[in-house]
Amino acid sequence: MTLTVNDTVAVIGAGTMGAGIAQVAAKFGHTVLLYDKMEGAAQAGLDRTAKGLEKLVARGKMSEDDKNALVDRIQPTESLADLAPARLVVEAIVENLAVKQSVFSELEKLCSEETILATNTSSISVTAIGAALKRPQNLVGMHFFNPAPIMKLVEVIKGLATSEEVAQDVYNLSVAWGKHAVMAKSTPGFIVNRVARPFYAEGLRVLQEGGADEATIDAIARESGQFRMGPFELMDLIGHDVNYAVTSSVFDAYYGDQRFLPSLIQKDLVEAGFHGRKTGRGFYDYSEGAEKPVASTLPQQNAPSSVTIEGDLGCAEALVARIEAAGISVHRAENHDIKGRICIGNLILALTDGRMATERAADEQRSDLVLFDLALNYSAASRIALTKADQTTEESLNQAAGLFQALGMSVSVIDDVPGMVLMRTVAMLANEGSDAVNQQVCDVAAVDIAMQSGVNYPKGPMAWADQIGLSHVHTVLSHLVSSYGEDRYRPSPLLRRKVFAQDSFHNGASHD
Ligand SMILES: NC(=O)c1ccc[n+]([C@@H]2O[C@H](COP(=O)([O-])OP(=O)(O)OC[C@H]3O[C@@H](n4cnc5c(N)ncnc54)[C@H](O)[C@@H]3O)[C@@H](O)[C@H]2O)c1
Repeated sequence: MTLTVNDTVAVIGAGTMGAGIAQVAAKFGHTVLLYDKMEGAAQAGLDRTAKGLEKLVARGKMSEDDKNALVDRIQPTESLADLAPARLVVEAIVENLAVKQSVFSELEKLCSEETILATNTSSISVTAIGAALKRPQNLVGMHFFNPAPIMKLVEVIKGLATSEEVAQDVYNLSVAWGKHAVMAKSTPGFIVNRVARPFYAEGLRVLQEGGADEATIDAIARESGQFRMGPFELMDLIGHDVNYAVTSSVFDAYYGDQRFLPSLIQKDLVEAGFHGRKTGRGFYDYSEGAEKPVASTLPQQNAPSSVTIEGDLGCAEALVARIEAAGISVHRAENHDIKGRICIGNLILALTDGRMATERAADEQRSDLVLFDLALNYSAASRIALTKADQTTEESLNQAAGLFQALGMSVSVIDDVPGMVLMRTVAMLANEGSDAVNQQVCDVAAVDIAMQSGVNYPKGPMAWADQIGLSHVHTVLSHLVSSYGEDRYRPSPLLRRKVFAQDSFHNGASHD
């Protein structure tokens, strides 16, 4: 069976998600039946949708006629029985297994045997919901992101009993609705809520260890990593109650795997009632007149007149052209024995490889070592994080900073934490994606599509790891394992395998 625009779609639950999903289906042209058990809620949901669309009309983004036609296609209904004609029912009610099972059991009795039942659950196992049904093969996850009309991603989730045909139908329909659809097996966190965990967790770890403050970590994520928001401002926006609950549920669902260990700092915020923007306080203070903290930025230092580049800087190679463009003379020294580095006299600057600068300086028997952090695009990044070894003088650090400042970058000096900020975060995002692929949850392309379309990442973590070089990502993780002695940083077997095969996740294909 293939769903078409002529099929009636039903949406149950007319709250934040349900009203948005109804709008998406109606925009495509379906007749949409909208039901909510709370009296008046379906009409209220439709009214909110109509109001949102009026704004689009006012901004010239939609015609009045199109808006009216869309709104007319959504019909609020009084009872579950009214949904009988639907060929697809999307459920977006309270996040509770027993309630969802009972609603779907009712629906099975009311709808035809061919009706596809889809759940928008973010955290409940589709397999577990299906266990209560007579026709679990017809149940599939259809996970939209908030706000549903705007966010492009739909994760199509297959439970153990879900039929391939049903999953494929919903996948095709999601694509027809203009969404970026990905297929995933029903496992805790599906793709996005699993792979995204390190974005928050590594920021929280660096904060907890005094590596840098919130505003600095956020600025590094935005200005070096091109993320739209840093982890702390994003957690404040999502709400710590919600974000902490998701982390805890994924941690519990994976039987306490240290990869997903929740943070005590976040637990404290939840317990204090500092849930973020919605309560006026989270990591930041949102009360009126409160000063917004600024990222720590080093004052202007002197630029060197020349540098020597030894070896190949790998993913940071674009720095060379940027240094030349800044009028600093560049000497190249072929040295194939070492990883690429920038030398200013005796001072060595190198991309972090996951070791603390202090450990690396000792390993390499150097007293002058400054490390720089990852950037998504070294030709354009407007900020860079630097850290120095304990053996290195402030003067040397300032010299290194002067070089990056001459390139037009703000410099944030962070304490000597292994893997710095962005490198450890991206290495862990890619590692989690790699494990999802290794454990047959989804394919490589799905990880990147999910993270770019579901949470607006500037680049898919798998493609980003390819850009860094999988061997370097593996080295970073291995050094994090030895620095922390924690299972949390164990490299994914798939990543390890790709390194030995000298392969990339996307097999050389660029995937922006
Ligand atoms: N809010 C998000 O960001 C988001 C994102 C993706 C998925 N989800 C999932 O979507 C679902 C809905 O979330 P939401 O944020 O829209 O919640 P919401 O509280 O805004 O809306 C839920 C609506 O469902 C109705 N409802 C509850 N029980 C019902 C029942 N038995 N029958 C009919 N209607 C019922 C409620 O009256 C309410 O109007 C949840 O499963 C949630 O996990 C939420």
